[in-house]
Amino acid sequence: MTPRLPATQRTATYHGGIAEAALRPTLEAAILAPSGHNTQPWLFRVTEDAVEIYADRRRALPVVDPTGRELTMSCGAALLNLVIALRHAGYSLSVEEVASKDHDLLARVRIGGPLPPTRDDERLFAAIPIRCTNRRPYEDRQVPASSVTELIEAAKALNAHLAVVTDTSKDAIAALVAEGDRTQASDPHFRGELAAWVHPNRTACKDGIPACSFGVPSLPSLVFPFILRTLDWGNGQSAKDRQLASGSPVLAVLWTDEDTPRAWLNAGQALERVLLTAAANGLSASFLNQPIEVPSLRLHLAEIAGVRGYPQLLLRIGYGSVPAPATPRRDVADVLLPRGG
Ligand SMILES: Cc1cc2nc3c(=O)[nH]c(=O)nc-3n(C[C@H](O)[C@H](O)[C@H](O)COP(=O)(O)O)c2cc1C
Repeated sequence: MTPRLPATQRTATYHGGIAEAALRPTLEAAILAPSGHNTQPWLFRVTEDAVEIYADRRRALPVVDPTGRELTMSCGAALLNLVIALRHAGYSLSVEEVASKDHDLLARVRIGGPLPPTRDDERLFAAIPIRCTNRRPYEDRQVPASSVTELIEAAKALNAHLAVVTDTSKDAIAALVAEGDRTQASDPHFRGELAAWVHPNRTACKDGIPACSFGVPSLPSLVFPFILRTLDWGNGQSAKDRQLASGSPVLAVLWTDEDTPRAWLNAGQALERVLLTAAANGLSASFLNQPIEVPSLRLHLAEIAGVRGYPQLLLRIGYGSVPAPATPRRDVADVLLPRGG
C-alpha cells in the first residue's frame, strides 16, 4: 500500500513572503520530475526567502534502493526542475546543497531579486512538461554528434559525467543488463516491491507506474501487477532489454566522482538536465539501471564503460517511434510541508 502524508501536511498552504502566485507553477514544474517507480519521494517547504526540498523516506524502495541513492537522485531531478522554473519566473537564486545521511533536508533554494531568464533556462523550462520515460524501441536513426555533445555538457554543468558507450562495448553492457534482469526478477522481494508500484492502466492512483508505460494494453493490465509479483519473468525481460541496450542509438552511463548523498543529489540534477536537453532536441530516453542496482555488476559496468568513478544510472537515448503515455503525479498540496520561518 502506498504511504500517504498525514492530513495536516496534505492541507498545508503557502502564503505571504515570496510571491505566492509565482510559486505554485514552480512547484508544479518541480513535481513533474522523474522518480524511481514514480514514488515522487520529495517534500517542499516554503520559508521567508527560500524553498527547501526534503527526502520523503516513507516513499523509499528498500529492496531495489536500500541506501536511498536513487531516492536522492529523484529529489535532485525535482530540485533541478524547481531551479529552472524559478529562473523562468524571473528570480535570481542560489542553491545550498546540504544532503547528508543524517537528515532529510537535501537543499535550500534561496530566492533573490528579479533576473530575466536566459534562453537556455527558457528552452529547458519548455521541455519539463514534454519529458517522459519512453521504454519502447527507438527508431534506427543516429543521434547527431552535436546533440550528444550537448548531453555530455549538460551532465558536466552539474558536477557529473556522461560516458557514452562505444559501439564495441554495447553488447558487453547489454549482457550485464540481461544478467541484472535475471538476478532482480529471481528475487520475490524485488518483484513484490515493483508490483506494489505498478497499476492497471485505468487507475485513480496519483503515483506509481501505469502498466501502459511498459506497453501493456488495458485488459491484460488488470492482471499485470499480479504477474509481476508472482512469476519469475527474468528470462523474457532480459532478452528484451538486451536487445534494447545493444540496439540503442546512444547508451550512456551517468557517473560521479564520489558516491555520497551530495553526489547523488548532483547526479539527479545532472540526470534531469540531460533528460530535458534530450527532450528539447526531440529525443526520448529510458533507464536500464539493472547493472548498477545489482551491486556485484556495478564494478563490471564501470570497467567496460571506462568510467573512473561511480556509475549512477544507465540511460538509453534515441528518437522514439511511439509516444510514451504520461504518468500521474500527486498534487502540490500533497508534497508541501507547513510553511516555515
Ligand atoms: C533515479 C531514477 C531511477 C529510475 N530507474 C528506472 C529503472 O530502473 N527502470 C525504468 O524503467 N525506469 C526507471 N526510472 C524512470 C521512472 O520509472 C519514471 O521516471 C517514473 O515512472 C515517472 O515517469 P516519467 O519519467 O515518464 O515522468 C527511474 C527514474 C529515476 C529518477
